[in-house]
Amino acid sequence: MEEIFKIAIDGPGGAGKSTVAKAVAKKLNIDYIDTGAMYRALGLKILRLGMAMSDGMELRALLKETQIDFRGQDIILDGEVVSDLIRTPEVSMAASDCSAFPIVREHMVAAQQKMGESKSVIMDGRDIGTVVFPDAKYKFFITADSKERALRRYKELVEKGQNAVYEQVLKEIEERDHNDSTRAASPLRQAEDAELLDTTNMTVQEAVDYICGKVMA
Ligand code: DC
Repeated sequence: MEEIFKIAIDGPGGAGKSTVAKAVAKKLNIDYIDTGAMYRALGLKILRLGMAMSDGMELRALLKETQIDFRGQDIILDGEVVSDLIRTPEVSMAASDCSAFPIVREHMVAAQQKMGESKSVIMDGRDIGTVVFPDAKYKFFITADSKERALRRYKELVEKGQNAVYEQVLKEIEERDHNDSTRAASPLRQAEDAELLDTTNMTVQEAVDYICGKVMA
């Protein structure tokens, strides 16, 4: 029987985690799960409802009546494909804000553990190696200088034909870094047994080859 293993990828926003993880999944023929997309989908729903994010009880009720699933690489919110809609700066901040609530984290972590049950997966996020799969066989903390991350995100937005201002993108990245690493509930941090991969001066292919090399060794 083939061995089942987990690859946990954590790190700040814009470090290239999802691009790298997707490519590794393809190369190793395992499933890729983008946990950030789940928080983003919930963030989108909260924005649409105009809900103030201050009440844990209200969030609990909202989570009960919210369905978030993956269909292939698409993320589905209550039956609607929202893959593109969740990639705006407003949704990024809403995702970061709602992810600070313990009730939201508990709900998402349980769903993620279930999704990764009984199969090999590569999962990326902020707390995969520390909380979701603390026993993952492979753990990487992918980071890059914030200016480099902002530049990558900026280029991505321009390529998609969106209006972007580099300074604004940098400001948002730094704000979200602060949010994600200072929240009380499972803040972004490198797991003690995770390997640090600084991609500031690395290409995507180099990062993919590095991870695949470790897993196939
Ligand atoms: O990975 P991303 O940028 O798409 O994630 C969006 C937000 O969701 C991020 O700012 C923090 C939150 N998040 C989290 O708290 N835990 C995760 N495992 C994934 C994302």
